[in-house]
Amino acid sequence: MCGIIGYVGDQSALDVALNGLRRLEYRGYDSSGVAVVGAGALRTARRAGKLANLEKLLSEGPEMNPMPGTTGMGHTRWATHGGPTDVNAHPHTDCTGAIAVIHNGIIENFAALRAELEGVGHELASETDTEVVAHLLEIELAGAEAGVVPEQPVAPPRAAAGAHPLTGALRRVCRRLEGAFTLVVLHRDYPEVVVGARRNSPLVVGLGQGEAFLASDVSAFIAHTREALEIGQDQVVEARRDGVTVTDFDGEIVEGRRYHVDWDASAAEKGGYPYFMLKEINEQPTALADTLRGRLSADGAIVLDEERLSAQDFRDVDKVFIVACGTAYHAGLIAKYAVEHWTRLPCEVEMASEFRYRDPVLDRSTLVIAISQSGETLDTLMAVKHAREQKARVLAICNTNGSTIPRESDAVLYTRCGPEVGVASTKTFLGQVAACLLVGLYLAQVRGVLYGDEVAAYVERLQRTPELVERTLARLEPMRELARSLAGAKAVLFLGRHVGYPVALEGALKLKELAYMHAEGFPAGELKHGPIALIEPGLPVLVIVPSPRGRANLHGKIVSNIQEVRARGARTIVIAEDGDVAVEPYADHLIRVPATASLFAPLVTTLPLQVFACELALARGLDVDQPRNLAKSVTVE
Ligand code: F6R
Repeated sequence: MCGIIGYVGDQSALDVALNGLRRLEYRGYDSSGVAVVGAGALRTARRAGKLANLEKLLSEGPEMNPMPGTTGMGHTRWATHGGPTDVNAHPHTDCTGAIAVIHNGIIENFAALRAELEGVGHELASETDTEVVAHLLEIELAGAEAGVVPEQPVAPPRAAAGAHPLTGALRRVCRRLEGAFTLVVLHRDYPEVVVGARRNSPLVVGLGQGEAFLASDVSAFIAHTREALEIGQDQVVEARRDGVTVTDFDGEIVEGRRYHVDWDASAAEKGGYPYFMLKEINEQPTALADTLRGRLSADGAIVLDEERLSAQDFRDVDKVFIVACGTAYHAGLIAKYAVEHWTRLPCEVEMASEFRYRDPVLDRSTLVIAISQSGETLDTLMAVKHAREQKARVLAICNTNGSTIPRESDAVLYTRCGPEVGVASTKTFLGQVAACLLVGLYLAQVRGVLYGDEVAAYVERLQRTPELVERTLARLEPMRELARSLAGAKAVLFLGRHVGYPVALEGALKLKELAYMHAEGFPAGELKHGPIALIEPGLPVLVIVPSPRGRANLHGKIVSNIQEVRARGARTIVIAEDGDVAVEPYADHLIRVPATASLFAPLVTTLPLQVFACELALARGLDVDQPRNLAKSVTVE
């Protein structure tokens, strides 16, 4: 959701914060703000709207360097409590103006805390949940009884790492907070530290030479360092020029896990494309190839990236649940076809936000597969936690090393798609589908349902799909033209069958989120049970046609469905594999994709739909990287 960067070092903190925010803006873009400690003062600036508004504000000031100092922080917001106004933008300060706080997440007990603070004379300026933290810190630092605003606000820092007064105060405040939060705090009188904390919300540390960074994700500091440190659940980090100290909320020192980020700043830049989304669509052959690379060991076994379960644990599995949100959920729906076909295990796919509220039947022989690009989606994380509480095993499919969901899981398979900055998932969807297929094969292998040579043959065929993706992308100019011509359409329907059904859902989601158009995906067979009433003359209907070589009768059935909608005036846009001549008489527009195995088809049939949505949105003059109301990583429930 919100993007956070904190810095302590020798560079201009304002420059580091603004550069970090440029890379984090995809996480939220309702408002942004910065705070810098230097020359004996804490200075803040914040503005509603995109980061450009804040940059304009800073450039209009009379001073050359409006915020001197080498300790600071920045925030880009996705509004939860309080609208996207200047006053609600972060940072938020206390009554004395000495403490500044930025926050990602939701503090669920903020109303009670606010009432308590107001009851003892604190004045809160914004409608946010965040502001209470600044005032609670004020009280803690004063060492006073609640409500006594300090005259001498701070004590001199103690030498021991992790024992800094600001760190101690944040720990005590965190113990009072409920909900999800990443917090970063600064104090006017303590330029030597920036302090952060997290619960159910991401925070990662960048370790530089004589400098340290706290951020929502590594992209914020990747231009400065590729050495990172994970911060665990309910932990506080005190960052200084000479290093960092991590403690739990009770003050016990804990060891974080250090890791090296295996991509660099150029991977998170546009590389000549006008939009990240266009770049990421074109990166799909590489993203897919990287995800699939090296997955078969010398003895023909599929390898996961992290495995804290034994082969016997996987053999004991008698039921699979897949939990995910949005696009990742669609990848899960595709996985169901493969998992059930290859393993003969029952597999249910569930929106993560619903999972724990309906009391699913779970035990130690249930495998829960959690799919998440960011590894931080709170709905998915909570589903994972619920599953583990019920003793189920959890396998994560994730694109973000060091994120929370893999850490909370028993086994992990990483999609190696590199950073995805465009808010709409594209390359990571393909990575997720490929990873799901690998997990299906892995389960079939450990359970002995497929022979080793069968698994190897599937993997080898899968490893040839990046080339098909490349060929498909090279053919999509007619799809772009068609999308531009439909910029004025009111609605679009997407139909599919078998694995084409989740692809239809994904096509509709892309169009909704990018072009703000009414779009629906349906199983083509379900149409006659109601949705066919939506068909009116000229309505564009995209149909994802399964291979004529696939499941018996399926192809013939969908050809009938195309005829049904066409007979009622729909304009049919048919996506069919090379050589499928049966669809030709019924397609107003025919988009060809290369033939592949039925279960692998989404890896190619999704591409025209991504391009369709992107091009149509651009033709409507919209920003495809930052669609309205959305954020890349959803860390609130
Ligand atoms: C849509 C999109 C979202 C995400 C969803 C889950 O294009 O990107 O629907 O797929 O918010 O996010 P992750 O995969 O980070 O858990």
